[in-house]
Amino acid sequence: MMRVDLLSIFPDFFTSPLGEGIIRRARQAQIIDIAIHNIRDHAGDRHQMTDDRPYGGGEGMVMKPEPLAACLKAVPRRGRSRVILLSPRGVPFSQQQARLYADYDQLILVCGRYEGVDERFSSHHVDEECSIGDYVLSGGELAALVVIDAVCRLLPGALGCADSAERDSFSRSLLKHGQYTRPPVFEGLEVPAVLLSGDHLAIARHRFLESVRLTLARRPDLLSGLELSKAERALLAQEGLLAQVEQARQEQKQALEISA
Ligand code: ADE
Repeated sequence: MMRVDLLSIFPDFFTSPLGEGIIRRARQAQIIDIAIHNIRDHAGDRHQMTDDRPYGGGEGMVMKPEPLAACLKAVPRRGRSRVILLSPRGVPFSQQQARLYADYDQLILVCGRYEGVDERFSSHHVDEECSIGDYVLSGGELAALVVIDAVCRLLPGALGCADSAERDSFSRSLLKHGQYTRPPVFEGLEVPAVLLSGDHLAIARHRFLESVRLTLARRPDLLSGLELSKAERALLAQEGLLAQVEQARQEQKQALEISA
């Protein structure tokens, strides 16, 4: 069972999101065990201060290192564990990062607040900093929930269908094709006929081509990581898409070389 420890000054923040859907089921099934720790409980002084003004001046408040370190120290360690600080300064979170995290026995997620966390805590007590995107949130709590959700889906048994995580967008550098359900006609719009054909090979081909077209249009940068089988190359060539895909891959490669 994976163990997740959340360190936050807003422990109530997590109650509802961690009590619904797949995460709730995974907790009930003892696939994931999540504990929430209130950093404020480890603030020594009478006023339970967890933040203070920055040395050197400047806007806002900084989280004090002692309550964070004391709270972290109180977390029992289990197996291979990783201390992750959620912060916009971190390494960008991705599906690949989620897979790496899913391999640990324990994730300790520290939610920063205010303008930041005292650097002595982040540099000496934290294994890595993780950012969920290039925008600034009011705190790490929402980011921690994003990480937990993405990791939880990857734990064996967390999803109903064993391979549905593998077919999700990004597990193979392609965006997911469109999905349809009943009714067959909605506001005059029909479901693509092939999906009603019962021909599984034709359906798989149609979905693959849809995924490639969507990725070309929206996220050509993803295509540089795409590995194609012989049959897939043949199918793309037949549909007149192979040249476009190869060109997008070439452009992406050059962009990566320039930025390196
Ligand atoms: N805390 C504030 N903004 C954040 C972000 N983008 N990712 C992770 N933690 C954050």
